[in-house]
This record gives sequence, C-alpha cells and structure tokens, in this order.
Amino acid sequence: MRDLAGQLTDVAGAAFGALGLEPGFGAMRRSDRPDLADFQCNGAMAAAKAARRNPREIADAVVAALRASDLVASAETAGPGFINVRLSARALNARVSETLEDPRAGAPDHATPRRVMIDFGGWNVAKPMHIGHLRSTIIGDSLQRLFRFMGETVVSDVHLGDWGLQMGLLIIETAREQPDLPYFDAAFSGPYPSVSPVTMEDLERLYPQASARAKEDETWRAAARTATAELQAGRPGYRALWRHFCEVTRIGLERECADLGVKFDLWKGESDAEPFIPELIDDLKRREIAVLDEGAWIVRVARESDTREVPPFLLVNRDGAVGYHATDLGTILDRRRSFNPDLTLYVVDQRQALHFEQVFRASEIAGYTPADRLEHIGFGTMNGRDGKPFKTREGGVLKLHDLIRQAREAARVRLQEAGIGEGMAESEIGLIADRVADAAIKFADLSNVRTTNYVFDLDRFLSFEGKTGPYLLYAAVRMKSLVRRAREDGVEPGPVDVRLEAERTLALSLDGFAEAVSSTALRRMPHILCDHAYQLAQAFSAFYAAAPILAEKDEVVRAGRLSLTLATLNQLERTLDLIGISTPERM
Ligand code: ARG
Repeated sequence: MRDLAGQLTDVAGAAFGALGLEPGFGAMRRSDRPDLADFQCNGAMAAAKAARRNPREIADAVVAALRASDLVASAETAGPGFINVRLSARALNARVSETLEDPRAGAPDHATPRRVMIDFGGWNVAKPMHIGHLRSTIIGDSLQRLFRFMGETVVSDVHLGDWGLQMGLLIIETAREQPDLPYFDAAFSGPYPSVSPVTMEDLERLYPQASARAKEDETWRAAARTATAELQAGRPGYRALWRHFCEVTRIGLERECADLGVKFDLWKGESDAEPFIPELIDDLKRREIAVLDEGAWIVRVARESDTREVPPFLLVNRDGAVGYHATDLGTILDRRRSFNPDLTLYVVDQRQALHFEQVFRASEIAGYTPADRLEHIGFGTMNGRDGKPFKTREGGVLKLHDLIRQAREAARVRLQEAGIGEGMAESEIGLIADRVADAAIKFADLSNVRTTNYVFDLDRFLSFEGKTGPYLLYAAVRMKSLVRRAREDGVEPGPVDVRLEAERTLALSLDGFAEAVSSTALRRMPHILCDHAYQLAQAFSAFYAAAPILAEKDEVVRAGRLSLTLATLNQLERTLDLIGISTPERM
C-alpha cells in the first residue's frame, strides 16, 4: 500500500514521462502551505532547466494529468511553475479505510529484510549506571522495535561491561571483607559454592568502596590490576567469583528492564570477546596490520583527510593487556561468525564517538566487517538543571530502579491532582501511574533529536498538557473510552466520508505514518515518530471538537466518524508501541 504522496507521485511522474522528461521530477510532498494545498511538486522548474523548456508549460501539462486523476479534487500551477494539489475526498476516504484494515496501520512493508545487530544498554557489572545507559536503553529499544516492525531480522545484545579493572577491584574488595571464601585460595580445587557470596546491594557498596581506596592507595590499585590480569588469564577461583558478580548483576538488570518493557536477545558482554582475542592478535600481527609502538601493539587508523587527530587503535597495551578497543573488535569477529549482520548499530553515548571511529576503521583495515556496516548511533546527555549530566538529588550516582520509582511516585501524585482514577481500585491506579511514568520518561527522551542534550524535568515530563508521554496516553485512552461507549450504544463503524476540514486534516495526518516510519528507520531518529504521534493526537483532538461522534444524529456520518476514530486509535497505539509505550485501557 502506498501513501498518498506516493500515489500522487506516480501520476505526476507519468505525466513528466509523457512529456519526454524524467519521471523523477514528479516527486510530490506535503505542502508548505496547507491552507493552499495538501501536496506540492516543484519538479517543473528543474525539468524545464534541464530540457531548456518553459516551466509553466510543463507544469500546466502535469496539472492537466493530475486533474484527470480521481485522487485529485483540484490542481493548479502557481508562480514560476509550482504545482499545488488538493486531494479528493475519495482518495482520503480510501486511504483511511486501508489504514483501518491494515495490521500495519498504513506503514509500508520492508522489501528486502537485512540482519541487523543492535548493541545497546551497555551497563557495567557493579559499576553504577550513568545516564548514557538509560538513554541507550530507551533509544535502542525503540530502534529494535522499529526495525522488527520494518521486517528486519534483529538481534539485540546488551553488551555488558564485565571485563575491565572494576572486576579486579571487586575481587580484592570481596577478599578484604570475606577473606575465608574459597575463591581466594589458590590451592582450592573446587567445586565452588553455587550461591553468590554477594548480593546486588553488596556490589553497589563494594565497588565505590574499592574504587575510593584505589584512588588513595597505589598498592591497592596495583593489586586490582593484578587480580584483573589473573581473572582474564583464567584463575579458577576468580572466574567462579566473577561469574557470581555477572549473574547477580544480570538478574537485577533483567528485572528492571522487564519493568520498562525492554528485552534483549543476548546478554553477552565484553568478556565474550575473550576467545577471539588471541586469534585477533595473531592475525593482525601476522599481516603486519598491527605494529609495535613503544611497547604497545597498535593499528594506525589516521587518514590524510582527517580534520582532527584520530589516535591509533590500541590492540595490546604496554603491560600486555587488552582493553576496550580489542574487545570491541573481537566482538565484531564473534558477531560475524554467529550472525553475520548486514548492519550493526551501536547505540552509545556521543562521547564515545572517537572510540567507535577507531574500532570501525581498524575493522575496515583488517577486512573483517566493512565500516559502512558499522554505525555508531550517538546521543547527547540528559542533564540536570545545572547543565551537567543528571545525578540524583543527593548528588549521587543514578540507579535505574530509583529513577523509575521516583517517576512512578510522582506520577501517582500527578494522577491524584488531575482527579484521574477516582473510584478505581488501588491496584489499577498503581498500574496506570506506572504506565504514565514510563511514558513520561521514554517520550521525554525520544522526542528530542537524538544527538542533542536535554534537561531532566520530571514535572514537565509528567504534565498532561503539551508534547508529553502522559498527554499521548490520555489521548489514546480517550479514544478507547469513546470506542467503548459506541459499542455499548450499538454504534457500528461504517464507510469513512471526510467532509469537514478537521476530518481532512486527521485523514492526512494518518497518511503521514508511512513516511514517519521510513524516515525514522532511515535516519535512526525516533523523534520523528514522536512528532507523528503528537501531531496525530492533536489532529484527533481538533476533529473531536469539530465533529461530534456519539451525539451525531445522522447515522451514516456517525458510523464514518467512528471508523476514523478507530483508525486513529490503532495507529496511535502502534506508534506508541514503536517508542516502547503501552496504553492503559482507562484512566
Ligand atoms: N559499557 C560501556 C560503557 O559503560 C558501553 C558499551 C557500549 N557497547 C560497545 N560495544 N562498546 O561506557
């Protein structure tokens, strides 16, 4: 099914073709002046220039062809050769009915599915979460939903940071508190206990403790480095303890992600690159792609054309250890063998742009995965009112469950203030508040252009007015209750017949979904879908104010308006689902 711009483009393109001109000049898009026209085509001027012909003559001929189409109510040539089109009611009606029946709510199918790997989440075992992880989770989840909806084969990987110095710090800190555990006894031959000696709360306490000590004490730092190296070299007790750290963290994160409605296909981490590292090092050394530089093995990735300095890719450092560069390249090898993605998206903080540039270039130079199949989806930070990356009120580090809990509590208060949920059971109000809070956080995040920073302002995010998640939930719930009441009154949906301006605008807004979906996917920019959801809700609200539904006397008109409402509700819920927001039945 094509959107109306596509259908009009076909007609205009054929008309250009009939004049011996490139059909591509017939591209139609939404008019800049919705008061004058629904769609416009600016191709006549360019076509005239290319063929040295008169633009107005060309435009007039195309206009004549458009007028002959039953998609078109009126078409005009304006100025030097602009073509303005107003759609026929028949075209709008047909499009709304299609949208209503379409399980994809009017979005196009993807012709050739690709294998897409999405690397997002990226929390670190034991280390506290930072705001980059929250944004990564929200944006990455929206992209995985969208790419699946487009028909791509998606595999998402949380890619935990589970292999760095923090692991050594945790090991020695645990040893300090519980020295008698068998994990530290090099002579112990197992089996190690299956129950973790530390809980999530322990980890949250142990890491800051250990890292504070490391800041003050050089020997402690050295001990942590040694423990990390021993862990990576495979010391059995350390490995066993480390597995507990990872498992405990994973269980906690999985619960919080489930809470947020986010799922990962793979719970892999940096450590999973480990089996690929020896091979990676051998290969790059053998082919002299890696060179020795002051004791470290590096790959030079700078280019003549670089406008800023791009330092070398670090394969093995002077101590003989591998770090973040090597694990990411090792992971590229792993993914190539297991899934062979056509495209990998790394949804990670913009601050890591240079890191990914280096890794992608190294991958390209080594001939592993070409750089055009690796994409860093960077994003700005969520800041506090002080303009710095957001911290909790106590100035401490952010914990995902604290943030969610805080938002949910605030949502409850907000519901109460708004008089929403009166007379409902406590449990239902709780569920609604949870949905409102999640919608507030996710929408606030996704509605900003991904690459910009924004300020965390829970009050504004939770408002039921303006461009917010709660406003959209409320709009959807209003439609649901309308549909419910119609059913109770025995009103059946019937053929759509747009007449009022507000009905036309709503129909056009519904038609815009296809374009919103494809450009969100193409540009990996979920704010486009957010804009669509907001526009649709506003168009509905204007329609509802201008066109009574249940109070309408004319049965045929009433039935048509109910269909328009159903189509809007389906598409709004679909759009919200793509940004990870689910709507309650009532509010
Ligand atoms: N754990 C990293 C961090 O906290 C993010 C990981 C992103 N993914 C990747 N493949 N490097 O910054």
